[in-house]
Amino acid sequence: MRIDIISIFPDIFQGPFSHSIIKRAIDKNLMKIHIHNLREYGLGKRKKIDDYPYGGIPGMVIRIEPVYHCFSKLLSKRSYDEIIFMTPDGEILSQKYAQYLKNKKNIIILCGRYKGIDQRIRDNLISKEISIGNYILSGGEIAAAVLVETVVRLLPGVIKNKGSIMTDSFQEEESFIAPPIYTRPVIYKGWKVPDILLSGNHKKIKDWLKKKSMKIKP
Ligand code: ADE
Repeated sequence: MRIDIISIFPDIFQGPFSHSIIKRAIDKNLMKIHIHNLREYGLGKRKKIDDYPYGGIPGMVIRIEPVYHCFSKLLSKRSYDEIIFMTPDGEILSQKYAQYLKNKKNIIILCGRYKGIDQRIRDNLISKEISIGNYILSGGEIAAAVLVETVVRLLPGVIKNKGSIMTDSFQEEESFIAPPIYTRPVIYKGWKVPDILLSGNHKKIKDWLKKKSMKIKP
């Protein structure tokens, strides 16, 4: 899988992408991430990427041309399965959508900033709009990192213990919440691991875990 991320703050990704699972996936060549600085596609000497919105609305808007040129360059080299725009008014990211994306070959993620991007980009060039929740971030970068992480952990070979993914919340179905989980010591400051987990009765343990898992009603 290849993900191309377009942003005006590419350095934001250095932290999230250089540790743990995402780093391992990149190092093992299971996933390629290319980050493009939108500013490089800016207009004129000053590499302008934004402008005032029509209609007297306050704030600045990302212009069409830099985004169009960046998209054109990428699309001239390969086809893309999905061109995603990170925006708070998009569809809320779900485990189901991550599972859909994990089977795709090439994806572009465009990160918004300022007041937003010219609507014509959204209307004509974007195939999916994704939000990570009903709150406002300063831009789409952190949201894009969240999206990448949800997808990367599902790629074959990234997480060795496949059973671990299957027991994650939301993995099997939307209403599934992972059961509570414990490790040693059995008692700490009087707080005890539930007896059932120590009983050695596999059938009973399985039933208990199942009961504890189904918390949200669909
Ligand atoms: N950009 C700003 N806020 C966002 C959000 N909640 N989700 C995705 N992109 C965003």
